[in-house]
Amino acid sequence: MPKITINNAETGEKHEIKIGYGANLRQAIGYTEAQIYKGANRVFNCRGMGLCAKCIVEVEPAENVNPRTFFENLQKIAPEQRMSCRVKVYGDLVVKTGIQD
Ligand code: FES
Repeated sequence: MPKITINNAETGEKHEIKIGYGANLRQAIGYTEAQIYKGANRVFNCRGMGLCAKCIVEVEPAENVNPRTFFENLQKIAPEQRMSCRVKVYGDLVVKTGIQD
């Protein structure tokens, strides 16, 4: 089971979770106390439909997740960033959350 270390850039909180191989990152974090979204985006987001680009995270190493998806390329997010609702996890990760205004 991949181990995920979540560092929230807004609050400074740190969480560690284990999730199933191939699990969706946004859904997995949603089952914990950790936050993906920053500020009011916790309420105003598309609930994982891939449309709002408010669930932005930075993941390391990038080799342990799926390649960028069509929706991520459409949103033109920074190269080191991913939309957590489009990310599938295949290995241990360090995830930085709470970065998208
Ligand atoms: S939750 Fe809206 S794009 Fe991911």
